[in-house]
Amino acid sequence: MQRSLTGIKPTNAPHLGNYLGAIRPALRLAQEYESFLFIADYHALTTVRDAASMRTNTYDVAATWLACGVDPTRIHLYRQSDVPEVFELTWVLACLIATGQLERGVSYKDGLAKGESPNAGVFNYPVLMAADILLYDAAVVPVGRDQLQHLELARDVAQRFNHVFGDDLLVVPEARITDAPLVPGLDGQKMSKSKGNSIPLFAPAKTLRKTVMKIVTGSEPLEAPAEAEGSTVFDLYQLLASEADARVMQESLRTPEYGWGHAKQALYEALEAELGPRRETYDALRADEAKLDELLEAGAERVRPIARATIRRVREAVGMRAR
Ligand code: TYM
Repeated sequence: MQRSLTGIKPTNAPHLGNYLGAIRPALRLAQEYESFLFIADYHALTTVRDAASMRTNTYDVAATWLACGVDPTRIHLYRQSDVPEVFELTWVLACLIATGQLERGVSYKDGLAKGESPNAGVFNYPVLMAADILLYDAAVVPVGRDQLQHLELARDVAQRFNHVFGDDLLVVPEARITDAPLVPGLDGQKMSKSKGNSIPLFAPAKTLRKTVMKIVTGSEPLEAPAEAEGSTVFDLYQLLASEADARVMQESLRTPEYGWGHAKQALYEALEAELGPRRETYDALRADEAKLDELLEAGAERVRPIARATIRRVREAVGMRAR
């Protein structure tokens, strides 16, 4: 069975962009692929600066994966840092990547453009990400559009490794960009943990509704016809509702008695229908950190032999002792 793999950084509790861009598609792929889902804590370390946040966010992400439907007996769910073999591969890959390619990295370049001095973790971020993927021979990687550049680099370096050290040593992965490649946030910009424009996944229903009501819309009066196309509310609604329901919203917005407030209410209800039933599961899972630790450790135990086998193959291919 081919493998699918994706990760989420524990930099905050996951939001709707993570859900629609990666979690939902990854779980759909899990029906046809052996699936590897992980918490990218070493990647989070490029920005997270206190241990308590790292721990809390890690549990948040774990409970989110599980509440969204990960069956840990069938899907490999683990912490990136529980499989340190990833670093051995990171180094090998780094030796095949030109620094120029890393200098073109979006996050690194953005940091420089803002006048920051990005840490070396930000610079090397794509190398570690390539190692995450190649370590497990993943064929497909469901991600949002923001990760495409990283996937390109992972493909490039896998091809280079195979070219230099031997055909078919590493699986060349393919990005799976889904129907929600770039989910907008409350302000219409890409929904992002760092921008404060996120819709949280498992906040209480009341908070969820309040957040949805904050979505920026046109300011036409209720009676004026409003154009759904291109609005954040409609973009989000389309990702959650059936085509028929989306058409109803589109047509209703053109009528004098239906305005943005109604559209937001419909969006809230669609969100609640998708997430509401999982909220209790999330809360119960999140409350039991010992159990989450146990599940994550068991996940790591299961994937480590796969990681070791790749490392053995790679060491042998580059002329080191295979151990
Ligand atoms: P992270 O934690 O930023 O995001 C997790 C996933 O959510 C997707 N995503 C979005 N999709 C659509 N619209 C949005 N507004 C939106 N915001 C986030 C991201 O594209 C991502 O798929 N580098 C990764 C973590 C990672 C990884 C990996 C992923 C580390 N190693 C190996 C895949 C394979 C990241 O920062 O994700």
